[in-house]
Amino acid sequence: MSKVIFDCDPGLDDAIALLLLCQSEYEILGVTTVAGNHRIEVTTKNALDLLSFYGRADIPVAKGAERPLIQPLTIADFVHGPNGLGEVILPEADRKPEAVHAVEWMKNTLMASTEKITLIAIGPLTNIGLLLSMYPEVKEQIKEISIMGGSTSFGNISPVAEANVGHDPEAAQIVFSSGVPIRMSGLNLTFQMFIQDREIEEIEALSTDVAKAAAKFLWYHAAFAKRMGLEVDQMHDTCAVVSLMEPEAFTGRMAKVTVDTGWGPGRGQTIADFRALEEERNVFIYESVERDRIIDLVQSAIARA
Ligand code: BDR
Ligand code: CA
Repeated sequence: MSKVIFDCDPGLDDAIALLLLCQSEYEILGVTTVAGNHRIEVTTKNALDLLSFYGRADIPVAKGAERPLIQPLTIADFVHGPNGLGEVILPEADRKPEAVHAVEWMKNTLMASTEKITLIAIGPLTNIGLLLSMYPEVKEQIKEISIMGGSTSFGNISPVAEANVGHDPEAAQIVFSSGVPIRMSGLNLTFQMFIQDREIEEIEALSTDVAKAAAKFLWYHAAFAKRMGLEVDQMHDTCAVVSLMEPEAFTGRMAKVTVDTGWGPGRGQTIADFRALEEERNVFIYESVERDRIIDLVQSAIARA
């Protein structure tokens, strides 16, 4: 069974992604948190509460970076709600995060492992950028990093920048240029991985506590999408998890990805060069997904939860 560390900023779509990972065959070694969709205290509380709610209070949670490497923190409570979970109030977890910082926790866990570990990163890349800079020896211990972030088309916090990369471009550039194998689920992919209202209704109709909460997360996220003039909701973070669980449902290509860390209008853009020499290509960029197949996977995983 493959081992994973899940780095996140829950966050509504993070909550769904974590639920799916809990229903997969992956062994979750730990959940690390980062500031992004909300402040670090909130994303950490949400990670603890979600794991207890999903029946996985055995998984350690380590609190990570409270702000990006260089630029100030901006949060997205206007998308994810004042508590980061769409105003869903979960029972409070009966435990605290690990005593060490997420970066230390990841380093210790990676270096103690006898096999390579996959990282899933669905928030700003601050923790992983710090990890790779401070402890480059961990690179040998990482199988690959599955990232929700970036885009080969448009952005969602600027015309060209996606939120997770745009909220810490320097960290993202450290990660993308690290030499560690990377899979990128960017907005060009996640906008194909939409969920329709009737499909959320089907999840709601499952009527378990977990399914009802999952439907609330999806409705709240969908309400923001609708305020932005979109007809359907995008399951961004889900893509970084299900592309590992069901790789045959996805296609993609290798490219050389560079993050714009300048201070002009392109800041935070992931520039993908598909013409680069083979040895320069550092990222596998997903380009298509069999949406219906993944919706079936999502619905059956939630039904089992
Ligand atoms: C990403 O930004 C966050 O708001 C979501 O949780 C997702 O990780 C989408 O751009
Ligand atoms: Ca996220």
